[in-house]
Amino acid sequence: MTNGPRHGGGRFALGHVRYRLGMDAPDLHPLNAALIPLLGTWHGPGEGAYPTIRSFSYGETLTFGHVGKPFLALQQRTQERESGLPLHAEAGYLRPQGDGTIELVLSQPSGIVEIHTGTVAETEAGVDVDLTAEAVHLSPSAKMVRETRRRYVVEGDTLTCDFWMAAMGEPLTHHLRSVLTRQP
Ligand code: HEM
Repeated sequence: MTNGPRHGGGRFALGHVRYRLGMDAPDLHPLNAALIPLLGTWHGPGEGAYPTIRSFSYGETLTFGHVGKPFLALQQRTQERESGLPLHAEAGYLRPQGDGTIELVLSQPSGIVEIHTGTVAETEAGVDVDLTAEAVHLSPSAKMVRETRRRYVVEGDTLTCDFWMAAMGEPLTHHLRSVLTRQP
C-alpha cells in the first residue's frame, strides 16, 4: 500500500487520514494531490503580536477549495475574540507547480497584495507549505509592509498557520499564529 492519494465517492485517503471532498466535487487536478490535507474549512483561535502594537486574540475561519483546475482557492476571515467584530480578511490562490514548489497570490482589504513562492512537503500526518513573498504590493494608503513569510502545517485535523512580516520599519518579525481545527 502506498501513501499516494486514493479517491472514490468524493473521499480521499492519504496514509491513515481520510478526507471527504463531497459527492459533487469535481475530480482533483493531479497537481493538487499534495495539498489534499488542506482542503475544507478550518476554524479556531489565533494570537497576534508585533513590536509596534498591543498583542491581541482573534478567531479565524479559513477555507481551501478546488474546482478541478491546478490551484486551490483560499478564503480567510477573522474576528476579534471578545466582540466578534471583523478584523483582517484575505483571499487568494495556491498554485502548486508539481515539482515540490508552489506559488501563492493573495489580496487583502487593507490594500496589500502578496505574491509568494515556496515549497510543499508531504508529511506523515499531512502537509507543510512554507512561503516567502517575492513581492509585496501596497495601495497608496496601505501600511508600510516590506516583506512577509507564511507557513501552513497540517497534522491530521489540526492546521497551524504562522505569519511574519517586516513592517513599520521593523525587521521580519512574527505577527500571527492560529491553530485551527478541521470542520465537519
Ligand atoms: C489573521 C490575520 C490578521 C489579524 C487578525 C491582524 C490583526 C491586527 C491588529 C488587531 C492590529 C493592530 C491594529 C491597531 O492597533 O491599530 C494589526 C496591525 C497591523 N497588521 Fe495585522 N492582522 C492580520 C494580518 C496581517 C497581515 C497579513 C498583514 C500584512 C500583510 C498585517 C499587517 C499589519 C500592520 C502593518 C499593522 C500595523 C502595525 C502598526 O500600526 O504599527 N496584518 N493587525
